[in-house]
Amino acid sequence: MTVVAAALVRGDGCILLQQRAPGRAMAGLWEFPGGKVEPGERPEAALARELHEELGIGVGEGDLIAATFASADNAGRHMLLLLYVCRKWQGTPAALDATALSWVLPGEMHDLPMPPADIPLIPILDALLRTA
Ligand code: C5P
Repeated sequence: MTVVAAALVRGDGCILLQQRAPGRAMAGLWEFPGGKVEPGERPEAALARELHEELGIGVGEGDLIAATFASADNAGRHMLLLLYVCRKWQGTPAALDATALSWVLPGEMHDLPMPPADIPLIPILDALLRTA
């Protein structure tokens, strides 16, 4: 399974995390917004679709400036997570799918419980943002 997710980076360096809703896999954990890539779908298109569904925002492919990946077992499945850094979007993110949204610095993410695939992305993101 391939999953795409976005690090939406605000001007002050904070990044958006969303809390997974009750009754779903990994409920209560804080994740980078995103979701599954459908068969035959390009990852960038999947990311734009998921961010529109989950947050009500628009991202253009030109706004997706970096990618990295992590893999983890997710309920017995092998999962590849592609993280895109996104600094521009249209609209204001709203919790259409999640319980709550939170803007946090990379150094604050360790205080929040996150899905196993998301955790290895934190130091990579931190290093990327420090040099960018
Ligand atoms: O959101 P959705 O259920 O489509 O996500 C598919 C799978 O990817 C779920 O198991 C979810 O926990 C996982 N996921 C993740 N980290 C993210 C986004 C999704 O581990 N940032």
